[in-house]
Amino acid sequence: MGPDPKDIAAAASALRDGKLVAFATETVYGLGANACDGQAVARIYEAKGRPSFNPLIVHLPSAEEAIRLGRFNSDALKLADSFWPGPLTIVVERADDCPVSELASAGLSSLAIRVPGRESARELLRLAGCPVAAPSANISGQISPTTAQHVMAGLGDRIWGVVDGGRCEVGLESTIVSCLGDTPVILRPGGVSREVIEEALGRPVLLQTGSTNDPISPGQLASHYAPNAAVRLNAKEARPGEAYLAFGKREPEADIIRNLSPSKDLREAAANLFAMLHTLDMLGADSIAVAPIPDEGLGVAINDRLARAAAPRD
Ligand code: TXA
Ligand code: MG
Repeated sequence: MGPDPKDIAAAASALRDGKLVAFATETVYGLGANACDGQAVARIYEAKGRPSFNPLIVHLPSAEEAIRLGRFNSDALKLADSFWPGPLTIVVERADDCPVSELASAGLSSLAIRVPGRESARELLRLAGCPVAAPSANISGQISPTTAQHVMAGLGDRIWGVVDGGRCEVGLESTIVSCLGDTPVILRPGGVSREVIEEALGRPVLLQTGSTNDPISPGQLASHYAPNAAVRLNAKEARPGEAYLAFGKREPEADIIRNLSPSKDLREAAANLFAMLHTLDMLGADSIAVAPIPDEGLGVAINDRLARAAAPRD
């Protein structure tokens, strides 16, 4: 028996309001937020307590809507046609007009997209009317939940609620296939096997070696966004020629300034981080000085990302 339609409608409206809603899919329970609302996405990272931003899967109610978010090559289209709705996630480049917050993909130019098999999940997504970013609904480091009770035990006091759809029938996460290059690559084995994927495509695919359940941390991704500009951390002032990324009301003298959050709200800062780094880079800054960010709550993940941006590159 599926969840009550009234519960689904209430959950959809909570999603539209920027709240966190856990919901059953055929694989595992997801911790959903409106993917186009950066602050709602920031709440996901906050609730999971992850010390870094890893890219999230964005969920859509139909292949038709999913395909609009990215650039699907012929393999990606074949996979979508063969396996959606179902336990397969496809990684493609973002479409030019893709409205998904950069925080959802941790600043990557690509996007992981899935149309879940569970009818109640798709009904929730349809009613919400927005793409929904959803990692597995567990606290970071704990195992993925396959019942609403698991979700509540771990995250109950941090979320709006959970759409109880009973036990997840697949019970393990979706298979993630990257269609960014010429040959599709399985980044994470999961609910759809390699053999079935190869049969659908009519040719072999690659399997990322050393892959685990959580294969990609942003730092490992070759394509991960790193600003061209040099980044200088914990800067109270901007040096001549430097752009400044502020946090809090105080803004020193600088040619170009962006402010992550004038009110020192870490959630707002997380939502703005990738977009503002991109902007400063695009405006041609050679060097970006970044205000000190408190190393607590979401600030830990923000500082992790900034430290990667500041690390010397070859
Ligand atoms: O079955 C599932 O896939 C569940 C349900 C809720 O849909 N979701 C899930 O999400 O397992 P999560 O966040 O636990 O795992 C998402 C993984 C990340 O660890 C990351 O490795 C990969 O997806 N990922 C997301 N975006 C990516 C991208 N643009 N490129 C490569 N990998 C990406
Ligand atoms: Mg997970």
